Amino acid sequence: MSTIVVLVGPPGSGKGTQAKVLCERYGLAHLSTGDMLRAAKAAGTLEPEYRKLMDEGGLLPDAAVIGLIERRTKDADCGSGFLLDGFPRTVPQAEALEAMLALRGLVLSAVVQLDVARGLLEERLIHRRTDKRSGQIYHLLYNPPPPELLKDPGSLEHRKDDQPEAVNTRLDAYDSMTAALLPYYEERGLLRRIDGVGKPEEVTGRVVASLDTVK
Ligand code: AP5
Repeated sequence: MSTIVVLVGPPGSGKGTQAKVLCERYGLAHLSTGDMLRAAKAAGTLEPEYRKLMDEGGLLPDAAVIGLIERRTKDADCGSGFLLDGFPRTVPQAEALEAMLALRGLVLSAVVQLDVARGLLEERLIHRRTDKRSGQIYHLLYNPPPPELLKDPGSLEHRKDDQPEAVNTRLDAYDSMTAALLPYYEERGLLRRIDGVGKPEEVTGRVVASLDTVK
């Protein structure tokens, strides 16, 4: 049976940071809708209205991201399981995922919610920098990039949606839309709430302790 895990949490809660470590540990493919959309944006294949929505911190229409996941999960590297990072974000997306998996005889293994108070998230996002080449996520204060990257500003990405105004829009979008997802998964007995505050490796330890009990 394939392991299929969903990682839910507000912007800046550490989904991308944890996803990399967890995928390596469990041999899962990492499916981040945010990364896929940013790659499409960089390649110039993302519709201009979606590009604008992303930059401003809004959510894209459900159909756009459902289609992305439907196609991506058919790739060979998803055969032994995958971790969804940033999808689903709404109840219609969760229903579409459930239907998609059922058609393939699959079910979700667990939904991990990273719980971080809103007051901490803004600071995490505004100081985030990502290595353009490796995708490694850094924080200017807590986990600074190595000196050679700091000396070469072109090597680090400061996401457009990490500007203070967009950050607030994203946090509001999470509160108003994504939060409805938690009761949906709680009712199905899939939700595991994890305290996302502490050193990244401490958070990983909590997630692993919870996932290791999944049958
Ligand atoms: P997406 O890329 O998914 O962004 P997000 O959900 O806003 O999450 P982030 O990537 O900002 O944060 P994260 O939780 O991964 O945190 P990270 O590990 O980087 O989506 C971007 C956009 O795409 C959306 O706004 C929307 O427009 C669109 N989109 C994507 N999916 C969609 C969908 N399903 N439906 C509709 N639209 C969609 O960490 C953040 C910072 O904190 C880093 O600096 C890191 O170093 C630091 N950090 C991490 N862990 C810790 C820790 N334990 N302690 C201290 N600092 C930490």
